[in-house]
Amino acid sequence: MELHIAETREDLVERMARAAAEWIGAHPGSLVCLAAGDTPLPVYARLVALQAEGRVDLASVFYAGLDEWVGLGPADAGSCLQVMRDAFYEPAGIPADRRRVFDGLADPATECRAMERWIEAHGGIRFTLLGIGINGHVGFNEPGAPDGEGCLVVALDDITQTVGVKYFDRERTLQQGVTVGLRSLSKAEIVFLMATGERKADIVGRMLSGDPAVPASRLLPHPGLRIYLDREAAGRL
Ligand code: PGA
Repeated sequence: MELHIAETREDLVERMARAAAEWIGAHPGSLVCLAAGDTPLPVYARLVALQAEGRVDLASVFYAGLDEWVGLGPADAGSCLQVMRDAFYEPAGIPADRRRVFDGLADPATECRAMERWIEAHGGIRFTLLGIGINGHVGFNEPGAPDGEGCLVVALDDITQTVGVKYFDRERTLQQGVTVGLRSLSKAEIVFLMATGERKADIVGRMLSGDPAVPASRLLPHPGLRIYLDREAAGRL
């Protein structure tokens, strides 16, 4: 495991974007799994800028979306699909046949099988960029959820439902999610886990202490885990 702590969020984003661009450049045709969420969006923006500078071809790899709220589709502000389409896939010019994201309006179990087939067909996830929720979730691998193989339909934790409100432009009652499971993510060679800001300091401290109630702790034994924190998120270490 590598622990990277940057003084500022901007420094962290720059460091992560350059490392991700370097990995992508060296691994054309590989499958990359990207988290939606507020935390990684500046990294995606910087990756798009690096591509504009001619320093990486983001369409040289394939993509899998990490998770989705069951019940939300492309027209819903705050769906992972909408966020990633507008913040990354479209500005980066990733062709539709190079990416697959969950459709939260389709049958969730069928969506899980389709994502598993996509992951399998592209040789498994080799690189993933993840966030951590304040309840320690990774994607929708929620506290207490099964550590199943493949992709999962999950009952959302109360904290996830409460915090999730920030993404939506109107009131939503969302009780389920679909997610790539931790075991599939753990098969990646490189796992970037990112946290910024003081509000993540507690959960980052718990994760790094190996708290078994924190889903992200299960990534700690991974030899390719790189944890990226800004000074505030590292405040309880
Ligand atoms: P955030 O979400 O990036 O909006 O903090 C992280 C998460 O809940 O996975």
